[in-house]
Amino acid sequence: MRVRTAVIPVAGLGTRFLPATKSVPKEMLPVLDRPCVDYIVREAADAGIERIIFVTARGKDAMVDYFDSSPALEAHLKEHEKFDLLEKVVEAGRRVDVITIRQRKALGLGHAILTAKPIVGDEPFAILLGDDIVFAEKPVIGEMIKVFEKQQEAVVAIMEVPNEHTQRYGICAGKWENKQEMRVKQMVEKPHPKVAPSNFGIVGRYVVPAEIFALLEDTPPGKGGEIQLTDALHMLARMNKVVGFKFEGKRVDTGNALGLLHASMYQAFHRPDMRDAFLELLKEFQLPPTPVKQKSADK
Ligand code: UTP
Repeated sequence: MRVRTAVIPVAGLGTRFLPATKSVPKEMLPVLDRPCVDYIVREAADAGIERIIFVTARGKDAMVDYFDSSPALEAHLKEHEKFDLLEKVVEAGRRVDVITIRQRKALGLGHAILTAKPIVGDEPFAILLGDDIVFAEKPVIGEMIKVFEKQQEAVVAIMEVPNEHTQRYGICAGKWENKQEMRVKQMVEKPHPKVAPSNFGIVGRYVVPAEIFALLEDTPPGKGGEIQLTDALHMLARMNKVVGFKFEGKRVDTGNALGLLHASMYQAFHRPDMRDAFLELLKEFQLPPTPVKQKSADK
C-alpha cells in the first residue's frame, strides 16, 4: 500500500527548552530564518507525502497558523511589491494538506501517535518528529518509504552514535541485509553503554503499518504514565517485522538550545547567501592559538 500520510507529533511540553517554551512551541523556534517544523514538513512534501497530521496541544496554534494563509500579510506584501517575501510566506502551506488533532494530555510519543488513529485509518504512514531535523540530499523519509513499499514492514531510521551516548537513544541490534538495511532483532530503550547491544540509535523518522495502532493500544504505560512508541516497535521486532535504515545525512536534535544553535550554524554554513558572512562572524569566536610546548629533549 502507498504511503501518503505523515504524522508529526508536536504535543510535547518541550521542558528542555524552558522558559522559551512557556509561550512558544519549540517546533516554531527558528533554524536560521525558518521554523524548525518547516524543515520537517518540507522533507515530507519532498518525499511525496500528501497530507500531514499534526498531533498538537493547547498553546501550539502558532504552528497551525504558519501553514495557513495570512490574507492581511499577503495583501500588504503584494501592495508593496515585495514578491520574494510573498513567495516565502505562501510557500509553506501550499504543498501539503494539513490536518490537526489534539492530544489532551502529554502521555508520551506512543500515545500521541495513537491520537492520530481516527484520521490515519488503516493505511501505512510516516512519522517525523517535530524537533529532529535531517539535512540530506534526498529526503530521508522518502528513502524509508521506498524500503517500506518494497517489504511492507516497519522501517526505523538509525544512525551510529558514540558509545557513551547510548543512554540517549532507543538502541537496535540485528543482522545487516545490505549496506543500509538491518533486520532488527533487538531493541533496548536508552541502555547503559556497558549493556547496549550495539551503538545504532533510533532517530525521529519511522514508516509503520496501521497494525502499530493495535500494538500501541496493548502497550501498558511505562515511566511517568507514558506510552512509548519504542515498546510497540519492539513487539513488531519480536515478530521479525522491523527494518533499521541507516540513512545518509546530518541529523540534528533541535529539542535543546545547543542542538538548535547547531542546526542554524549548519544551515548558515551551507547556504550560499549566508556562508561568507557567517564565516566572518565566526572569527569573533576564534581562540588564540595555543603555544606549543617544546619537549625538553629539543632544548
Ligand atoms: P520529546 O521527548 O523530544 O519532546 O518527544 P518533549 O516531551 O516535548 O521534550 P522535553 O523532553 O520535555 O524537552 C519527541 C516528540 O514527541 C512529541 C514531542 O512534541 C516531540 O516532537 N510528543 C512527546 C508528543 O507529541 N506528545 C507527548 O506526549 C510526548
